[in-house]
Amino acid sequence: MKKKALYVATFGCQMNEYDSLKMVQMLSPSYEVVDAPEKADLILVNTCSIREKAENKVYSLVGRFKALKARKPRLKIGIAGCVAQQEGENMVRKAPYVDLVFGPHQLWRLPELVARLESGESGIVEVRLEERPDIPLVIGELPGGRPVRAFVTIMQGCDNFCTYCVVPHVRGRETSRPPGDIIEEVRSLVDQGVKDVTLLGQNVNSYGRKEKGGPGFAELLEMVASVPGLRRLRFTTSHPKDLDDAVMSCFAGIEQLCEHLHLPVQSGSNEILRRMNRRYTREAYLDKIERLRALVPDISITTDIIVGFPGETEKDYEATLSLLAEVGFDQIFAFKYSPRPFTKAAEMEETVPEEEKLRRLNHLLEFQNRLGLERLRRFEGRDMEILVEGHGKGGAPNLMGRTRHNVVVNFKGPEELIGEFTTVSILEAREHSLKASSIAPPSVRDGCTRETHIA
Ligand code: SAH
Ligand code: SF4
Ligand code: F3S
Repeated sequence: MKKKALYVATFGCQMNEYDSLKMVQMLSPSYEVVDAPEKADLILVNTCSIREKAENKVYSLVGRFKALKARKPRLKIGIAGCVAQQEGENMVRKAPYVDLVFGPHQLWRLPELVARLESGESGIVEVRLEERPDIPLVIGELPGGRPVRAFVTIMQGCDNFCTYCVVPHVRGRETSRPPGDIIEEVRSLVDQGVKDVTLLGQNVNSYGRKEKGGPGFAELLEMVASVPGLRRLRFTTSHPKDLDDAVMSCFAGIEQLCEHLHLPVQSGSNEILRRMNRRYTREAYLDKIERLRALVPDISITTDIIVGFPGETEKDYEATLSLLAEVGFDQIFAFKYSPRPFTKAAEMEETVPEEEKLRRLNHLLEFQNRLGLERLRRFEGRDMEILVEGHGKGGAPNLMGRTRHNVVVNFKGPEELIGEFTTVSILEAREHSLKASSIAPPSVRDGCTRETHIA
């Protein structure tokens, strides 16, 4: 039987990317992925609600699909993810051409929901949040060639209730997946050629804390790292308050664990951190960075920053700048605060005008660009192992890969390197990447040793 065509659009975080892959795998017996919505019988939009803009994008995209549906009435449109959870029934009222709305806890029922669509039902809304949601084991082929990097979600939801954040309200309470399922999934990925795995959760450091007798996060890292053939292991996101010595020591003790940590700080001001309900101070954060660097001096640390949180004064903002200078982040992701539904901060008076938020954001990014470039310069002149992911800008012979520190490296080299590890010589740091020349190891062909050196 000919498979139907499925188009998936994904917004938001890596957990959404993971969920989209699972949707594709669950539907793979009867659907195959197409690269354009015009070709689809079923369109799924996996949405994000973290900031205002992300949500608006969803509505305008879905609006475009309305026209498609007018031309092709059998086309079905489904909305998944955090905006779906947030909007629920509202969504089918606002956009009546949407056939299905389902939240993150109902994701795993997708085959059943699609069967209902196929039997003619529409306007289906499934957004119940479960007390203890399951993340079933769905193992399947990786679509789109043979990716070398993959994500594995190890937990769902969040219990932290940072006052600005919608996630606990749309993803529900924190639950951890059984370690056996995680290991089995990693094994399957490695069998398919994946060499670099990132474990995902909103707060991976609290993995397993609610389950009795199971492994904690540090033990889970050990278990995953021992999957044969896995060369690189990463995780995201860590909450600073829960990053403990056991996990920090893993960076020194587990060979596969890459020397990169994303540790969102959000603000350098204690008063703002308190209002955000982050439950750590600037000093506690700096102390963890110091301990981490004592273990792994060269580690790359990246972070998230919010500017313009309600009540953020110029002095608070300056405290964030001085924290950036003090830590020396390799990269930052900075956002203008935007009020989100259901959150405590949405009830706080907004004191920073939009233009001022934008000024702070731009100034912060500029400030960091200089610091980041300075950090990247430490790699100049080093020979580094990279995992080659594909072609770089402009196509062949440009290639791009990633270091263990998670820095993108551009260089020229033969196509056969794609999907492989290779060692390059770092020539120059750019603002967010490195330029290198490849030093392919001598290879033995037809009995003679060749050495290639491509600039
Ligand atoms: N679980 C992760 C982050 C999830 S959201 C953590 O705890 O760090 C990713 C980033 O989006 C956050 O770190 C924060 O910087 C930003 N963010 C979240 N809510 C926001 C809001 N209402 N306005 C602006 N930025 C926000
Ligand atoms: Fe949101 Fe805070 Fe949970 Fe991260 S830890 S998902 S920022 S509530
Ligand atoms: Fe967005 Fe939901 Fe992730 S709000 S950031 S897709 S958890």
